[in-house]
Order: sequence, then C-alpha cells, then structure tokens
Amino acid sequence: MNKIAILYGTSGGSVESVAKQVQDLFEGTADIYNVLDVSLSEIQDYKYIIVGTSTTGIGDLQDDWEGFLPSFAKIDFTGKKVAIFALGDSASYSTSFAESMKVVYDEIYDKVEVVGRVPDVGYTYDDSTAVEDGVWFGLPLDEDNEYDMTEERLEKWVEQLKKEFV
Ligand SMILES: Cc1cc2nc3c(=O)[nH]c(=O)nc-3n(C[C@H](O)[C@H](O)[C@H](O)COP(=O)(O)O)c2cc1C
Repeated sequence: MNKIAILYGTSGGSVESVAKQVQDLFEGTADIYNVLDVSLSEIQDYKYIIVGTSTTGIGDLQDDWEGFLPSFAKIDFTGKKVAIFALGDSASYSTSFAESMKVVYDEIYDKVEVVGRVPDVGYTYDDSTAVEDGVWFGLPLDEDNEYDMTEERLEKWVEQLKKEFV
C-alpha cells in the first residue's frame, strides 16, 4: 500500500482518465479507487488523499461522490492531508465552473488540511464558488474546452503536491 490514494468519481469517463494521469505522475507511489465501489476500510489508512470529481447539475457534485461524501467525511483525518481536483465546462457552465470542488471542500475543511490550492490564473469563466480571494480550493480542469492544457496543469499540480504531501 502506498501513502497516497486517488479517489475519483466519474459520470462519462473524463475524471477517470485524469485520475490515471495523476497516478502516472506520482510514478508508482499512488493507489487509485473509484468511489463507486470503494469501502472506507480500504482508504482509512492513507496519509494523503486526492479527491477527483466532476461537476454536474448547476455546480453539483458528481453522482457517485454525492453518495460517498457523507461516509468519506467521517474518516479519522488525524495526520492526513487532502487535495481536490474538479472537472468542469467553463464555456457551457461559465457561472458554475468546477463548483463541485467547493462542495467537497465545505464538507471537510474543518476536519483536515486541504492542500493543492492553485491561483486563479489562466482560466476563463464568469463565476465560481470554488474560488476565494483569487485562489481555487483545489485544481480546476476543463476537459471539454481546454483539454490541451490539462497535462501542463497536472504536471505543475503534482509537483506542488509532492512538496505539500510531507
Ligand atoms: C448535466 C451536466 C451538468 C453539468 N454541470 C456543470 C456545472 O455546473 N459546472 C461545470 O463546470 N461543469 C458542468 N458540467 C460539465 C462536466 O463537469 C464536464 O463535462 C466533466 O468533464 C465531466 O466529467 P465526467 O464525465 O468524468 O463525469 C456538466 C455536465 C453535464 C452533462
């Protein structure tokens, strides 16, 4: 078992594909689980947890994560750190871009240190609850319109996490 777990929920496969890219960038030091069929006992012992979700409805959490989040929030987070990445569509959903990140953040911010926050630079959208004072609560990604930027954004983010996961 590694120290890092990537927990993803996906509706159409995009989050899964990004989660696998994140796992590759950790070069064998991260395990990966779909929240659709993971149990709390499988993830309880990881020190560092990466949450990967997409945004549905208007700023809502991906369906499988919606079901799993109440259980996830009950983990004993002592000594752990969590980072969040959220997919969204900054063109079609420009006023609720990647807001699922905020849904996760709100559930856990008073229980665990949330790392992996990135500055709101290079994104084009109108509004998002997932930004505060120019900083996102995690990493937003847009596989619908900006898929060509994902690799660079992930590489930078994982380098950041390697420093914060200590
Ligand atoms: C019904 C529906 C609602 C969506 N709502 C939002 C939204 O409010 N904000 C946003 O940024 N993206 C929204 N999206 C875009 C998805 O988050 C995006 O396409 C994502 O890449 C899907 O990833 P997945 O297929 O792995 O779940 C929505 C997509 C669908 C189909």
